[in-house]
Amino acid sequence: MSPNNSSILSIFPFNTKVNSQGHLVIGGCDATALAQEFGTPLYVLDEFTIRTKCQEFRFEFSKRYPDILVIYAAKAFINPSLANIIKQEGLGMDVVSGGELSIAQSAAFPPEKVYFHGNNKTASELKLALNWGIGRVVVDNLFELDLLNKMAQETNKKQDILLRINPGVDPHTHRFTTTGILDSKFGLPLTTGQAEAAIIRASSASHLSLLGLHFHLGSPISEINPYQVAIELALKFAQKMKAKHGFDLRELSPGGGFAVQYTPRPKIPSVSDYADAIVSKLKYVSDKLNLAHPRCTIEPGRGVLAQAGVALYSIGSIKKIPKVRTYAAVDGGIGDNIRPALYQAKYEAIVANKANQEMTTKVTIAGRYCESGDILVKDVVLPPLSPGDIIAIPASGAYSIPMSSNYNAVPRPAIVMVKDGEPRLVRRRESYQDLISLDIN
Ligand code: LLP
Repeated sequence: MSPNNSSILSIFPFNTKVNSQGHLVIGGCDATALAQEFGTPLYVLDEFTIRTKCQEFRFEFSKRYPDILVIYAAKAFINPSLANIIKQEGLGMDVVSGGELSIAQSAAFPPEKVYFHGNNKTASELKLALNWGIGRVVVDNLFELDLLNKMAQETNKKQDILLRINPGVDPHTHRFTTTGILDSKFGLPLTTGQAEAAIIRASSASHLSLLGLHFHLGSPISEINPYQVAIELALKFAQKMKAKHGFDLRELSPGGGFAVQYTPRPKIPSVSDYADAIVSKLKYVSDKLNLAHPRCTIEPGRGVLAQAGVALYSIGSIKKIPKVRTYAAVDGGIGDNIRPALYQAKYEAIVANKANQEMTTKVTIAGRYCESGDILVKDVVLPPLSPGDIIAIPASGAYSIPMSSNYNAVPRPAIVMVKDGEPRLVRRRESYQDLISLDIN
């Protein structure tokens, strides 16, 4: 294996290896054999990596701050088998729709550990949440506050809530995934008086119990400073609201957004770095302001799942444009991973059946969809390619599949969970029949 390949292996699932045939091995399974057995494009999820990341978040935060709840952000990807793993690992779940909520329900997820987010939850979604008895609704705006109070009254329930504040802090990530700046559709701004108005209204709402505050700055955030600045602002706001309105901050959530290694460099903070920064600021400022330490909930999605996932594709046509570029086309692309096109996200790639070969040839991995912007990885250096080679793209566990589409009427990929050398299909590949199954003639 060339030295370059070994650093790329560090961003694959834990224990990824190259065997004596030069094949990539994930969770004890030969990736080339998985591609043959299940077809491509194929998403491979390594169960050991998912569980280890869940444990790492719980361990790193709880050893510094006992009253912590780690909540998995289901939007990164959820299905029943993953919900089961998250449940077994003792995490809560952040859901943003009736659909995500119903998947959690299907896995008999403990409802008290479910938090419901979103800037425009519908009445029917809120009803589902109230009826199931979920732990917290994270209220985004005054319209939702009034609606939820009315609905809780109708169902004769008292619902625990957090208010999502907008602290006005820029986390320096892509503008499409920036949420904590003032000019955002999310949350109650601290600086405009809307957050204070919500505190007043929530405190007097007959069927709501206001437990605390939540913010989410954006994602992925590769700096620790924005979390610290926002925690200080949130705690100062809480102290002011305590003095003015008797508000008692029992819970504070700095959201999710923890960055992951999509490429070996630049190095981003570790889970322990984020935990250190968040917990030390939380303790220091609440002590300084004479506030009791609130429960802290954190919401990693990408941080739990990204590294566990590998996307496998087969190479088809290879187009060489002399002195310009070589395009190697795969059988997936924008339909299963829109992130490069949408956010200019950068990925690495290796050739799963040539993982020990010298990397000598610069190619651009193009998708199969009818868009020139359908490029998965630009100008990556790989061994010389031939049709039929299997391309493996690491750090693909989060946000690719849940943002996938049937563009060009291409069926969506299968997902296989690997563990101790055993593959388990957890989502079958879509069929042509599936593509018209909802249509009425
Ligand atoms: N909590 C809240 C309230 C959120 O809105 C999000 C993500 C998270 C937690 C989890 O963030 P994470 O730890 O996964 O970064 N489609 C984009 C990401 C959008 C994230 C939306 N909210 C992407 O592919 O990068």
